[in-house]
Amino acid sequence: MRGESPSTQAATDEADFLSCVRAGLRQQPKSIPPKFFYDAHGSHLFNLICTTPEYYPTPTETGILERYGAEMAELIGTSCVLIELGSGSAVKTPLLLRHLSDDAVYVPIDICEPHLLHSTRRLQNTFPSMRMQPLCLDYTQIPVRALSTFSDKRQVIFFPGSTIGNYTPDEVIQLLKHVAELVGDDGALLIGVDCKKSPDLLNAAYNDAEGYTAAFNLNLLTRMQRELGAQLDAGKFEHYAYYNAALGRIEMHLVSCCTQAIRLGNESFTLAEGETIHTENSYKYTAHEFQQLARKAGWYLKATWSDQGGLFDVHYLSLSATEPRHLASQTA
Ligand code: AVJ
Repeated sequence: MRGESPSTQAATDEADFLSCVRAGLRQQPKSIPPKFFYDAHGSHLFNLICTTPEYYPTPTETGILERYGAEMAELIGTSCVLIELGSGSAVKTPLLLRHLSDDAVYVPIDICEPHLLHSTRRLQNTFPSMRMQPLCLDYTQIPVRALSTFSDKRQVIFFPGSTIGNYTPDEVIQLLKHVAELVGDDGALLIGVDCKKSPDLLNAAYNDAEGYTAAFNLNLLTRMQRELGAQLDAGKFEHYAYYNAALGRIEMHLVSCCTQAIRLGNESFTLAEGETIHTENSYKYTAHEFQQLARKAGWYLKATWSDQGGLFDVHYLSLSATEPRHLASQTA
């Protein structure tokens, strides 16, 4: 296991958290980036969300990987370097790794160190002869040379879970351009994207009856109290998530139940009753929309695998226009 020592990493994370929260609360409307959901407790709550009957993306994508994993491995190349962005607990990863050869390399990247190390250990037990190189990093800040030690193999970015939905279309283009630079000309991208669908299904997925999504959202406030010494009344905020059809995205907010203030260091941020802190976007794309977006970052869509219900897509993209388009029944 390499990377910065845990203490250095923790100090960097805390400074990043503080500056992002401060900047986000100074803005109007107020917002905090969703990457801060994932402290140890938040990651645990996210895993619970994934077990709820309402949150269809996890079982749906799992089904797609179970069914087409072998085909995907064939296309990306079975002895590649597989770089997973925001690997988290990496529950779905074995569905792909089991089709790779022993000389493949797995590079999970995640900001939550406990989850990263725990899941890497678990995967290493399942695939004892595969080389694994976890990186504790914010995957939007991967240094260009971080992957240069693996230059003898095809580098494939694996980005499941529709995490790409957290970014605005402009940010998606930036991120996909950045990963294109990381992997080089023969690189590839295997990415899970949540599809546009009925608002009822979408709204239910982000308002589960168990209240895990609400707890996940509200955990951001407790994390601010604990790690930043923020003074606030977490009990006076409510979870709010809805599908914004005009923008094609789920929005999550923390709604202030009354006029109140959040104190952070020597600053005080006033929230009116009903005012919100916007904590997450989760964009939904048709295959065509996603293809158009990826094209602007230099990627060519080569294949798409979906579930029967058309809820979720896994796309395979490459940087080469000439690589033959894959001719499967599920091709886009
Ligand atoms: C991890 C970003 C894919 O947007 O569906 C789940 C996060 N937020 N429930 C998503 C999330 C609320 C999730 N992603």
